[in-house]
Amino acid sequence: MKSTLLIKNIHRLYGIAADKLPFKKGKDMAAVEIIENAYVLIEGDIIQAFGPMEQCPLSADKVIDAAGKCVLPAWCDSHTHIVFAEGREVEYVDKLMGKSYEEIAAKGGGIINSARKLRDLPEDVLFERALNRLNELIQSGTGAIEIKSGYGLSFESELKMLRVIKRLKDASEVTIKATFLGAHAIPPEYKDNRQGYMDLIIDQMLPQISEEGLADYCDVFCEQGFFTVEETDKILKAGAKYGLKAKIHANQLHISGGVQVGIANHAISVDHLEAIGEAEIEALQNSATIPTVLPSCSFFLNIPYAPARKMIEAGLGIAMATDFNPGSSPSGNIPLMMALACNNMRLLPVEVFNAVTINGAHAMEIGDSHGAIGVGRRANLIVTKAIPSLDYMVYAFGSRHIDQMILNGKVIG
Ligand code: NIG
Ligand code: FE
Repeated sequence: MKSTLLIKNIHRLYGIAADKLPFKKGKDMAAVEIIENAYVLIEGDIIQAFGPMEQCPLSADKVIDAAGKCVLPAWCDSHTHIVFAEGREVEYVDKLMGKSYEEIAAKGGGIINSARKLRDLPEDVLFERALNRLNELIQSGTGAIEIKSGYGLSFESELKMLRVIKRLKDASEVTIKATFLGAHAIPPEYKDNRQGYMDLIIDQMLPQISEEGLADYCDVFCEQGFFTVEETDKILKAGAKYGLKAKIHANQLHISGGVQVGIANHAISVDHLEAIGEAEIEALQNSATIPTVLPSCSFFLNIPYAPARKMIEAGLGIAMATDFNPGSSPSGNIPLMMALACNNMRLLPVEVFNAVTINGAHAMEIGDSHGAIGVGRRANLIVTKAIPSLDYMVYAFGSRHIDQMILNGKVIG
């Protein structure tokens, strides 16, 4: 018999799903199923039952009294780069002192800076640092996460990053998806030989990654100065040959063609979208590719926010993620992202809730097991402190509203 955990007297239970819960789009983004005065029963790592308190079972091996508290599905953060050597706060301060992006890059800053630091770091140290970050993210409510490589930019270092992600899967209660992002930047040694780096990715990195089963997805930074639409297309097609589905960085700084090349390659998601127009919205309307917005990147870089309101009005659904990385989003705190998105994208708390739960889960292809509270789903839950509502949680930004995390049915912290 697996042990049972009962959460009773829940003031508000958010995000319940009677059955399969599809990706939410358009007006549905503002809908959430709630039960007031509810219970959830967990057996092992699975939700066994939920409902109003009148139907609550009498006992369980362990009982949590959640009087006055809310229970929500744990966040599903579908875009991060949490495996990195160290922060780039020196660049941040340089920027605040007026240095341009070009000056910082000329000093060896940016993605290349992170790659240089990572190459020198032993795998075990990289693993410990990433695990510490992951543990911190659990404390802010994250229960499932996608993690990218892309700060290696050499055969050994990209593989090292992906092996670290594999070790994180074994070491953590967080559900993890791994993405190969060898095409994050052209490393300096290939500056005059782009084709050489393309060949390295396609002929050497991808076969080895496939051999070791190290990645679920293949990503490319499709952007001026990084990878062209043609190069993106080639890499995504090469990844597909090894069973890696596409998930790309598209339209961050320019109208790059990234959205269209992602859709053409049946990408699970196209992420960033700060620079999109009518053509991109229309292309997304006619596809199954999930648009993913990353509000903290806009906040931190002082660039425009993705037009999420407009996208939802056009009937699209969005996922939202943190993009946690040392360069453009040195935070993986989903509650903070929710506040940023509501204020700057004019989204409602319920819309950002759906964007970081069920829609984020679908952006990692785990929408049938994560991102909602339903019978047979993974017991990954947030128990808040005593707060009136989800709206309050987003409104009272900066406070810590999470009391306990439950991952795979285990109470963490
Ligand atoms: O998703 N846009 C590309 N990659 C990261 C930033 C990388 C960095 O500056 O280290 C992002 O924003
Ligand atoms: Fe990113």
